[in-house]
Amino acid sequence: MAAAGSAVGLGNIWKFPYIAGENGGGAFLVVYLLCVALFGLPLVMTEFLIGKRSGKSAYGAFRALNGNNRWQWLSWMCMVTAMLIMGFYFVVTGWCFNYLAEALTSAFSGLNADALTEHFATVTGNTPRMILFALLPVLLTAMVLWFDVNKGIERLSKILMPLLLLMMLLMAGRVLMLDGSNIGMRFFFQFDFSKITPKVIMEAMGQCFFSLSIGMGALITYGSYMPKGQNVPRASIQVIILDTLVALMAGVIIFPAVFAFGFDPQEGPQLVFVVLPAIFEQMSFSWLSGVLFFGLLCIAALTSTISLMEVAVAFVCEASAQTRHPLSRRQSVAIVSAGAVVMIILCVMIPAVFDYSDWLTACILMPVAALGMAVFVGWNLPKNGEKGVLEADKGIKRWARKIYIFVLRWIVPVAIILIFLNSLGVL
Ligand code: PHE
Repeated sequence: MAAAGSAVGLGNIWKFPYIAGENGGGAFLVVYLLCVALFGLPLVMTEFLIGKRSGKSAYGAFRALNGNNRWQWLSWMCMVTAMLIMGFYFVVTGWCFNYLAEALTSAFSGLNADALTEHFATVTGNTPRMILFALLPVLLTAMVLWFDVNKGIERLSKILMPLLLLMMLLMAGRVLMLDGSNIGMRFFFQFDFSKITPKVIMEAMGQCFFSLSIGMGALITYGSYMPKGQNVPRASIQVIILDTLVALMAGVIIFPAVFAFGFDPQEGPQLVFVVLPAIFEQMSFSWLSGVLFFGLLCIAALTSTISLMEVAVAFVCEASAQTRHPLSRRQSVAIVSAGAVVMIILCVMIPAVFDYSDWLTACILMPVAALGMAVFVGWNLPKNGEKGVLEADKGIKRWARKIYIFVLRWIVPVAIILIFLNSLGVL
């Protein structure tokens, strides 16, 4: 459940529709689903197995399994990626909190498409306000880690996440009854081969890594908490299916509404924030729908920020233990929070930082780290026996082990490298 909480978040509801909208809708969807099918299971399993086998977070896992520091650069990459994601992720979570506050006071009710777009620009143009709203989730996330109440949050999200899904179903039902919604459905589901460009493939791969939280060690940490008997392939499949369902549902809500209300699918990062209020306006209990949805979205975002911050906190805490100034867990929480605040300020003040940290992490850093992890487990560690990660789950059958190692050795690295070469124009 915790891993699903990490995976399902703004990546599904905010980022997926806007990236799909910018990259041709149906063409993107097909490539995205192929990426999930190709990379999802082997890489989610790999992170879980690394964590479960070593019992360590992303900081200690590679060293523990390899017995030396040669793969420690992977831990560093996870740390850098976590900090970079935190900046823009907290900013967008701040937007969600802002819209929740506005939903409560009906601040955007009755606005038409143009007014909603303007409203978004006005709100996000207010720098101090945006920084304050982004600090709120930092504070909440830090509190969860400070008081060690992860378990409570997970139990809570066990009830709230199904509620989010139910809410999304209701919204999809309403949106599909709108005039013109079929154009959006066609945009999202009609596959047009000619629209698949190297950029579309690269963005789809990046979105797959980002949405599934792979390639930055979040799932390693959660793997390290897994009880002995946990079935790793099954847990991985559950996370992947849930994450993909939520993204698909977000597309089915957003695109029909985009066309029915006369928005542009290529609006960029603001897309869902201008479209969603227009949808609530059409629902029977519009105030309640808006409040409930944005409230649940904030919680879905928080279960992701918890996993992001956890990677960095464990890193600072465990790395400092090797020095003459070991830091406590709480001191580490304070330091990482301060770092997150700096990142937020940079993202709000300099739009290029916002855009590039989003692109750089999803399209470059996470795939490279995942490639590193695949090579680490597939080529560097022994396949079987005491030192292999598959030892962490004795229930995996022999034929499945063979396929897993083969995919990790050949399919995953080759596919990632080909996608990189393709986007560089080498292929
Ligand atoms: N997967 C999360 C989402 O879709 C984002 C995330 C990425 C969280 C990496 C943790 C680590 O919103």
